[in-house]
Amino acid sequence: MFKKTLMAMAMGGTLAAGAQAGEIEVMHWWTSGGEARAISVLKEMVEDEGHTWIDFAVAGGGGENAYTVLRSRAVSGNPPAAAQIKGLEIQEWGDLGFLANLDDVADANNWDAQLPTVVADFMKHDGEYVATPVNVHRVNWMWANPAVFESAGVEIPTTMDELWEAADALKAAGVTPIAHGGQAWQDATTFESIVLAVGGADFFEDVFVEHDQDALQSDTMIESLEQFKRVSNYIDQGAPGRDWNVATGMVIRGEAAMQFMGDWAKGEFTAAGLEPGSDYICAPFPGTEDAFTFNIDSLAMFKQPNASSTEAQMAMAGLVLSDEFQQTFNLNKGSIPVRTDMDMSAFDSCAVEAMDTFKSTAANGGLVPSMAHGMSTTSSVQGAIYDTVTEFFNSRSMTAEQAATQMARAIRAAQ
Ligand code: GAL
Repeated sequence: MFKKTLMAMAMGGTLAAGAQAGEIEVMHWWTSGGEARAISVLKEMVEDEGHTWIDFAVAGGGGENAYTVLRSRAVSGNPPAAAQIKGLEIQEWGDLGFLANLDDVADANNWDAQLPTVVADFMKHDGEYVATPVNVHRVNWMWANPAVFESAGVEIPTTMDELWEAADALKAAGVTPIAHGGQAWQDATTFESIVLAVGGADFFEDVFVEHDQDALQSDTMIESLEQFKRVSNYIDQGAPGRDWNVATGMVIRGEAAMQFMGDWAKGEFTAAGLEPGSDYICAPFPGTEDAFTFNIDSLAMFKQPNASSTEAQMAMAGLVLSDEFQQTFNLNKGSIPVRTDMDMSAFDSCAVEAMDTFKSTAANGGLVPSMAHGMSTTSSVQGAIYDTVTEFFNSRSMTAEQAATQMARAIRAAQ
């Protein structure tokens, strides 16, 4: 007990002598195999500190379902103590006055010095810490089954042209080339990687951060939409509504050749006991190797009516930047630590590559915020983009020009 108290103090946790144990209800959408293993790391650490963890998992990749439940809980005056919210959504909750100030924990743990600015900025509302980051995900990845590629006699693609050549060859060999889940956020995840491949990082920002109307209706955008539409020729009939981790399972079992998904997919390969390089391949989405679309997961703390819950919140916030949490959580989650000074020797080659690219793109350009995962724009603009992307992907008659015009208008209306 004494050791724990000391450790808690060293880590800046607030569980000093005489502190109360409290309950902390944590809302999240980490329910797949890899995700559940990752969040259980935090649960165990919080419970080791003597607090009670109440798990409030709302299934649904990308978090749309969880956000809906969170809104209704908040409206009824009963938000959970902590919730997995991220990106600009943190600002929206901060503006509404729901979030607790974490500055004491942040100061005690030196968050300003430990976190890259790009990460720290997302965690602050009006200059005060209100959320704690747990990881950095890279979104622009492709996950491939090397045995399936080999049996069709094709190489893992590194450019968009090679992607379509490979997809044709795989299809001709009777394999489903692309494992896809037809849900709006998954459509948007693939779409944004294609925008990055076709237009590059500056164009990506013009479109998804600045919402520049010329860029939105440019030839580059139309080309991106056309390339995106081609994906629909290479997916199977079971795609509509499929969960992302079910799609990852298809690649794992060799029922499909590849999936376009952020590195939470790696959590599924890891949970299945597979090794990158031999059992599966992680490669940047074709044509995006010099870019890094980031998606930072975080837990925001909601103001609580009682001191013991506040105590538990602050204890939890004090744990997340520790070496132990950053390493174990991210090994399971497929992401990289939020701290760039971490020893990466326990991490696999995909994570080491992600960390290197995160640092190099932060220094030289190419680090862009994910639209599909709430990092680049407000939830209403994101919703407007999702709607057009999904409608276009599933439509038999909508042209890329029409989709570009509709998206530009929808974004303007949502701003
Ligand atoms: C993302 C989230 C990831 C991962 C994914 C699928 O939005 O940032 O951590 O869980 O959804 O659920």
